[in-house]
Amino acid sequence: MADYDLVVRGGTVGTATGAFAADVAVNGERIVAVGEGLRGRREIDARGKLVLPGGVDTHAHIEQVSANGLLTADNFESATASAAFGGTTTVMCFAAQHRGLDLRQVVSDYAERARRGAMVDYAFHLIVANPDAKTIDTDLPALIGEGHASIKVFMTYDLIKIDDEPLLDLLLTARQNRALVCVHAENHGMISWMGKKLLAKGYSSPKYHAASHPRGSEAEAFTRLIAAATLLDQPIMIFHVSTEEGAAVIREARGQGRKVFSETCPQYLFLTRHDLDKPGMEGAKWMCSPPPRDAADQDALWRALALGDIQTISSDHAPYAFDETGKLAAGPNPNFKQIANGMPGLETRLPLLFDALVSKGRPEFAGRGLEAFVNLTATAPAAIYNLQGKGAIQVGLDADIAIWDPHKDVTITDAAMHDRTGFTPFAGRSVTGWPVHVLARGRDIIADGACVAAPGSGRWLGRKAGWAGEPTGQLTADMDPERNFGAALL
Ligand code: URP
Ligand code: ZN
Ligand code: ZN
Repeated sequence: MADYDLVVRGGTVGTATGAFAADVAVNGERIVAVGEGLRGRREIDARGKLVLPGGVDTHAHIEQVSANGLLTADNFESATASAAFGGTTTVMCFAAQHRGLDLRQVVSDYAERARRGAMVDYAFHLIVANPDAKTIDTDLPALIGEGHASIKVFMTYDLIKIDDEPLLDLLLTARQNRALVCVHAENHGMISWMGKKLLAKGYSSPKYHAASHPRGSEAEAFTRLIAAATLLDQPIMIFHVSTEEGAAVIREARGQGRKVFSETCPQYLFLTRHDLDKPGMEGAKWMCSPPPRDAADQDALWRALALGDIQTISSDHAPYAFDETGKLAAGPNPNFKQIANGMPGLETRLPLLFDALVSKGRPEFAGRGLEAFVNLTATAPAAIYNLQGKGAIQVGLDADIAIWDPHKDVTITDAAMHDRTGFTPFAGRSVTGWPVHVLARGRDIIADGACVAAPGSGRWLGRKAGWAGEPTGQLTADMDPERNFGAALL
């Protein structure tokens, strides 16, 4: 007698703390039982497979307009389809304000696009590039209250960066309203200066993008950002850590009790600056910011992940096609400063990491690669961003389930990808392990090699900040009325 709508039968369930043989039962949109001998009106045979939570990718630029007016190659439909093919069932993308734009209008525009196209559940980070009084004092508090509990700011990029003083204004608003502040932290002056020097001497091809973002620009910006966040006791998330020195700054701050979270991305774990060194403009495909670094940085980032200094791995999917709509928008022979930064990654994030952590077993994780994979790509990001119902195979949570064939050998190619970028920086790599059946809130989204989800079936996930966004209560002397002659500023 069948007790459940659906049972995923006979697989090995993977969680952030262990793996065990069990059936997973689903009624409607939720997981309702995990155990042995469960019977469903419909059953999926998962023998020989791993039954894992759908991935949670907390950094993806989708249907986003850049400061220079370029639109990403993907819309919500294509981006979320490619995410699903790679086993990801929740994405966090951006509602991107530019100078002069009204943040509330921006959010409502992005929400409308997502509502029409998204095939997996999603949430927005609010990008603030116009930190005027209306944005900081009125719109942000209202939007955070409505369920957009994370903000993103840039410390570099000419047209969107914010300086130290507005950054402090924003951190204060985030603290008063409980939102996590995510930051693209690089020293703008160093990048701008290096870019000018390189171009003046004729070093203009894509590979010089790497040197134009000096490694120290990351550690410097992290240090300055952490000092600002410490002054206000405001939790922060440092995006896309790329260098050993950057990871060390984070480790030190966390050692001092600062609430500093961080992410890295596959491009910093699997690529190096040498990938940009290709004939002609080809290297533009490997251009992102910060740039991929060196093998020693990769090792340092794996160590930082294993030690918990870096808690999540996102894709930073930023798809710009290799043509006049994207990388070559400034003409067929642009200098590196004229080329859009970013690369696709929603579909390859999980398979690359599964291969490294589970199939090959990175030594830093001492035999617990599966647990680390689940934690870094689903459980921890769901917890940090307070994405309720997401990130684990657990009774009561959404039935977002990726069934992995751990032995499936795949060579990644441009043609096999389902996003609209037209290339992947990981083409030619062979991985073992790929998701073969994906469910989102109990419905099939990937089955028999096809995407069977309906555009618009993804749902917006409203969130409060949760524990990650709570201040620590540790005030510096400058902000503590008992030590600053009574000045109450927080
Ligand atoms: O190069 C990148 N990462 N482009 C996307 C925007 C950003 O900096 O995250
Ligand atoms: Zn960034
Ligand atoms: Zn990004």
